[in-house]
Amino acid sequence: MPTTMAYRLHDSGGSSPSAPFAVAHRLPLSDVVASLSYALDLTEGQPQGHSVRSCLIGMHIGRAIGLSSESLSSLYYALLLKDAGCSANAAPVATTFGADDHAVKRALKTTNWSNFIEASVYVARHAARGGTPWTRLRHIIGLARGGSEQTRDLMRIRCERGAAIVQRLGFPPATAAAVRTLDEHWDGKGQPAGLRGEEIPLLGRVCGLAQTTEVFLQSRGLNATVEMLLDRRGSWFDPLLTDVLLEETTNPLFWRQVQAARRPSSLCGQEPAERVRWVGSRELDRIAEAFADIIDAKSPFTYRHSKGVAEIARHLGRVLGCSRTDVAGLYRAGLLHDIGKLGISNRILDKPAPLTEAELAEVRLHPRYSMEILSHVTAFAEAAPAAAQHHERLDGSGYPWGLRGDQLDLASRIIAVADVFEALTADRPYRAGLAAAEAVAILHREAGTAYDGDVVQALEGWAREMAPAQWPEATGASPFDDGTPPSRASSTLRPTPAPAPHPARQRVG
Ligand SMILES: [Fe+2]
Ligand SMILES: [Fe+2]
Repeated sequence: MPTTMAYRLHDSGGSSPSAPFAVAHRLPLSDVVASLSYALDLTEGQPQGHSVRSCLIGMHIGRAIGLSSESLSSLYYALLLKDAGCSANAAPVATTFGADDHAVKRALKTTNWSNFIEASVYVARHAARGGTPWTRLRHIIGLARGGSEQTRDLMRIRCERGAAIVQRLGFPPATAAAVRTLDEHWDGKGQPAGLRGEEIPLLGRVCGLAQTTEVFLQSRGLNATVEMLLDRRGSWFDPLLTDVLLEETTNPLFWRQVQAARRPSSLCGQEPAERVRWVGSRELDRIAEAFADIIDAKSPFTYRHSKGVAEIARHLGRVLGCSRTDVAGLYRAGLLHDIGKLGISNRILDKPAPLTEAELAEVRLHPRYSMEILSHVTAFAEAAPAAAQHHERLDGSGYPWGLRGDQLDLASRIIAVADVFEALTADRPYRAGLAAAEAVAILHREAGTAYDGDVVQALEGWAREMAPAQWPEATGASPFDDGTPPSRASSTLRPTPAPAPHPARQRVG
């Protein structure tokens, strides 16, 4: 078995080959970010296109008040990335409320949480929804005790994280500041810092107004939106900015255009022409890495999982003799393979008990969501099948499509093996990761049936180089006769039983 083989990534079981990953050309950054904003909409429990429509509304306000093209550019990306931090508080929101984080967040957007009565009704309605009366009462009391401090912490996580991601992507400080302050209110009763009036950066005020307006418009229609704007003018929102939108109420065409907007193409002409940004291969990697962080922040069980899968896939591609372009494609597929998990509630992802059939079925939707999101991002569309097919198995036992070997190309086979290997070897809050040798042995047991034998062999070669002491010949001991190498923590060659799986292991990976 050669350690290096020249593969074409999209060959599948000897059937007719298709083209490998194409060399990336420079693309408009706007297209990439706007397309990926669908993933943020999912995380926030909003219908697809929420960020795009918020962007249309916010840019309309920005132009009406005469912002410079520099500020308009900063505003444009703040509106598209305003929810970049929302995956970071998904787990604590689900835990605090004992409920589906998507439903809790969706309802919060239409609740005037500055109003005590509305806030109380909101808590009573959503705390441990569907649970026993006792569980509900326990959560309501917990939320009442935690009060505004608890809410502030949840908001702080989201705002700070979002601003940090925006900064990391190289956007100007004004964009990061807008993301950090979009939930502040004009009257000082917003979150997380309680800034008041013009203490709130102008772009943050525009973002806050635009996002709430979009939610009301889409879920309740124009009349309810106007009512909300009148009600919150001067409390939540800057009065002058609110007046810009209220003046537009006599222009139904504008609102119809906003309501109909779904795709990034709806934003054509919104980014200031003289400031259009372009991205090449390196910037695409940075964007994919930032979204990998967003994905991994969703659950404490998947800390650094996406980055780990990407790095393993890249190594496997190199060992298998893939071209540089294909290795870059594998890296991005690894980074983004679980992007669909942003659409799954943390109540299920982090459930500390076995999943019901219905919950399992929901988790198994996440590769479909990954496909749906990535196939619409021109820059990552080629990586979409390999990313989305990471739970498929050669013998047809995988999900969600039950594809078989002749339908799975090499890229998909590599991501599948990298995904399982990372999940087995990573430390989790409930258990230490397996030793690399142990994880390889587990994969070998299903090599040729579930997993591609050549890929598993390549993984072993690479893993032996990374951790030579874990293999028996390195210690002078006899080879394993039961295929169970020692665990990382063990200095003996006694077979170590696999750790009892935490229920969450059912769906990690
Ligand atoms: Fe997955
Ligand atoms: Fe995964």
